[in-house]
Amino acid sequence: MFTEAQLYSPVTTGADGDVTVHLSDEHPGVHDPAYRTRRNTIAALAMAYRPGEPLPRVDYTAEEQEVWRIVSAELARKRRRYACAEVLAAAEHLGLPADHIPQLGEVSEKLFPLTGFRYVPAAGLVPLRQFFGSFADRIFHSTQYIRHHSAPLYTPEPDAVHEILGHANQLASPRFAAIYNEVGAAVARLETDTALKFLADVFWFSMEFGVVREHGEVRCYGAGLLSSFGEIEEFRGAELRPLNIAEMGTVDYDITHYQPVLYCADSIAEIEDMVGGFFAGMDDESPLRVASQPTGK
Ligand SMILES: [Fe+2]
Repeated sequence: MFTEAQLYSPVTTGADGDVTVHLSDEHPGVHDPAYRTRRNTIAALAMAYRPGEPLPRVDYTAEEQEVWRIVSAELARKRRRYACAEVLAAAEHLGLPADHIPQLGEVSEKLFPLTGFRYVPAAGLVPLRQFFGSFADRIFHSTQYIRHHSAPLYTPEPDAVHEILGHANQLASPRFAAIYNEVGAAVARLETDTALKFLADVFWFSMEFGVVREHGEVRCYGAGLLSSFGEIEEFRGAELRPLNIAEMGTVDYDITHYQPVLYCADSIAEIEDMVGGFFAGMDDESPLRVASQPTGK
């Protein structure tokens, strides 16, 4: 689908306990030994974390803080132009810092009073069942590394900018947080991998890449769009289709290429009714059930 910020770099632990992050050959930081060491160190912090322990703090470098300042300012500007009112209000209430990368503890302190969500560390890709299932406990697994300083407005993988400026600004809305919560509750009812994949795909086309019509204009609410400097402008050129759960859960997409189809809601209430409502009643049979209904609901 969108080329940015969707593929996590694999993380492995060697026999000696050393944690290694495997960057792709195209990653802007792949030829920077200091950056690679840094990524290993930050991933090791997340791997060592156990629930209930204090959240790991990353001692961000001046270079990393500068990347945050640049991208945070640019995305705030883009948000005002392209994000829906619900996200803009949520971001305003949350008040994320623009001058430094917030630690996960700082994000949680701001988010928890608004919607009860808390952030915990992730080294990289978290298994689908764990990632989506933890929304039932209002927990969000977040990476802590930052994109390479040579390309502050681009990242090939989800970084702290995506997790925080994308998801936390969305999770600060009680209406969107309630949908995440239904996703988590649904995961507890699902046994098949097919149903779990269907849930992940509906989430992808709504909470990651969803758009909504507002005062005659198309605005975004998906975290993937909110955190992407390049792609946030692209959605207005996409083919927009009405919400259709059956389609969203099954349509083929290639996350490494631009895909010109997005699902556009007429209002936040429609997202709550159709997407939230689907998750609220979802079980293993739901993919088959929605496929047999002409409206795809
Ligand atoms: Fe995401």
